[in-house]
Amino acid sequence: MGRHFVLKREDFVFATRLIRRMKDPKTRFDERKFAEKGRDYLYNYAEEKVGPLDKGRRSFLKGILIGIGVLAVASAVPVISYLNQPPVYLKNFPWIIIVDSDGNPIEASKLTVNDPSILLFQYPMEGDITFLLNMGDANDNPVSIPPTTVVIPENGTTYTFPGGVGPNKSIVAYSAICQHLGCQPPEIHFYPPKYLTPGGTVPNFLPPVAYQAAQSANAASVIHCDCHGSTYDPWRGAAVLTGPTLRPLPYVELYWDQDTDYLYATEMNLKAPVIMGQPSDLASFAYLSSFNEQTGCPKMLLSKGQTPSECYSKLNNEGNTFSS
Ligand code: FES
Repeated sequence: MGRHFVLKREDFVFATRLIRRMKDPKTRFDERKFAEKGRDYLYNYAEEKVGPLDKGRRSFLKGILIGIGVLAVASAVPVISYLNQPPVYLKNFPWIIIVDSDGNPIEASKLTVNDPSILLFQYPMEGDITFLLNMGDANDNPVSIPPTTVVIPENGTTYTFPGGVGPNKSIVAYSAICQHLGCQPPEIHFYPPKYLTPGGTVPNFLPPVAYQAAQSANAASVIHCDCHGSTYDPWRGAAVLTGPTLRPLPYVELYWDQDTDYLYATEMNLKAPVIMGQPSDLASFAYLSSFNEQTGCPKMLLSKGQTPSECYSKLNNEGNTFSS
């Protein structure tokens, strides 16, 4: 927890190649040798099979060893597995109505405030899982989220987050794929105000440094990633509160139809960071399976922890551990 290593794009490609070699029967990584010889075996293996290791790349590999264990690399960086497939592209961001796992449109005024469940939809492509949050205060009253300028610490550039939508302007949507190394729910999840205390037990363990950062930023709730401790401010465009990430979570722009109370995902901001692991927000490795009625997925799947469809069997297996 709290290791300050950062995955640069080129290191991401390097890691992808490394994992391919590790899995390839012809060049398979020898776990027993690794157990005997430790990190030098990994360094030598990586140099021989993939390419030279500079100091930064060594510390990246060392960070993986310390943080998650090299044998768990593939599962801890789940998005990497997508890179083995050719990407598909969208010309424009689609407008898609957000529905629940039964296919019924979500009604904004019925969305639970400060819901600690894993509430996700996919946008704009398959696998681009996104949190849907109705933000509220400590008494679970909805709170309007104003527009704000978000800084990307990695390069110092900024972009505008347009704020919340819905009857109270309190509903926001952020990528649920951590910008550090790509951990996904349940590792990364929303901490509503009642969970915003230092310590606690997993999955509601908040390191003191994350708690202090939230206090300093006056954030009554946070999104925190248990993998290595990145913390994001959902009140201010999912800006970075604590590293190791240097990139905020991208947001999905929402439209609230006042007449029907329905919510639509409409687009993403191309000035914001790209969804972790994707070549572009408009490119991924599969179109939404919701476009294909044969798959059994609803049109625009929204899974509320307890009722995931087969598309989210992984989440189903891991269970929803965050219900109040
Ligand atoms: S993947 Fe490392 S902090 Fe989230």
